[in-house]
Amino acid sequence: MMEYVTLSNGVKMPLEGFGVFQVPEAAVCEQAVRDALSVGYRLIDTATAYFNEEAVGVAVAKSGIPREELFITTKLWIQDAGYESAKKAFETSMEKLGLDYLDLYLIHQPMNDYYGAWRAMEELYEAGKIRAIGVCNFYPDRLTDLCLNARIAPMVNQVELHPFFAQTGAIKNMKSLHVQPEAWGPMAEGKHGIFTHPVLTEIGQKYGKTAAQVALRWNAQRGVVIIPKSTHKERMEENFNIWDFTLSDEDMAAIAGLDLGHSEIIDHSAAETARFLNGWKIHD
Ligand SMILES: NC(=O)c1ccc[n+]([C@@H]2O[C@H](COP(=O)([O-])OP(=O)(O)OC[C@H]3O[C@@H](n4cnc5c(N)ncnc54)[C@H](OP(=O)(O)O)[C@@H]3O)[C@@H](O)[C@H]2O)c1
Repeated sequence: MMEYVTLSNGVKMPLEGFGVFQVPEAAVCEQAVRDALSVGYRLIDTATAYFNEEAVGVAVAKSGIPREELFITTKLWIQDAGYESAKKAFETSMEKLGLDYLDLYLIHQPMNDYYGAWRAMEELYEAGKIRAIGVCNFYPDRLTDLCLNARIAPMVNQVELHPFFAQTGAIKNMKSLHVQPEAWGPMAEGKHGIFTHPVLTEIGQKYGKTAAQVALRWNAQRGVVIIPKSTHKERMEENFNIWDFTLSDEDMAAIAGLDLGHSEIIDHSAAETARFLNGWKIHD
């Protein structure tokens, strides 16, 4: 059975969800979310910058699943940082999603006026429009600073986490701040030959599981929420079928040994990343 974690404010969050990054086509996204919900996923992770909030909303509405069983996440883009802009962006997202409350609203990048955005999010949270608020891609320095200065500390930090970028120290810091770690790219976006990796494959053979299932289970077992993405239903099933086995301590250590200590996808401390992400406009 899929498990849940309890956030610092008492809200229960599924330990596994479904991500829809790089699925901008409405029909494809709607079908993917409908398939994911039929497989059993209850957390859907979208973002304004993914251009598919409407499709997620349509799939959720058509599913007929009671709203309280679902956990819907969306994110505020850099361009909409700042107090007023964040309030407006939130309303636009809610209209697109067709929801009257949101489960988790995240600041997508630690850039632009995110303190102003955070104040807006604190108010929306207190008004009951959002059940939990958090951030993404906050490295330990940014996260600690926000926790020290915000009136309400973030409940979740969604960062890149997979066997090749384990971020053990960052997770330890999050846990000390009572911030729930959530993994984006839990399968390293397919990099490093993860799906046929010899270490993951060999461990999987002991349990009758694939390398992907081992990678996902490893994060879940260390208390990290995972949101794998796939547009193939059989892969959604594979990625969700990780709740009937437990990796041994030895396996956990062997997987942790694959850590390269850096990302090969994106470096949020690099000047070119700030330039690139600030240049990504989602509206006029
Ligand atoms: N906050 C952020 O900045 C941020 C950044 C990136 C991602 N995210 C979130 O995290 C979610 C997951 O990350 P991600 O989409 O970047 O990468 P990911 O889930 O690590 O990998 C997705 C890739 O793996 C393939 N795949 C999935 N399951 C597979 C399986 N069992 N066997 C073989 N191939 C498989 C998918 O292909 P197919 O689709 O063709 O099956 C897709 O190419 C995103 O969708 C998004 O919601 C957030």
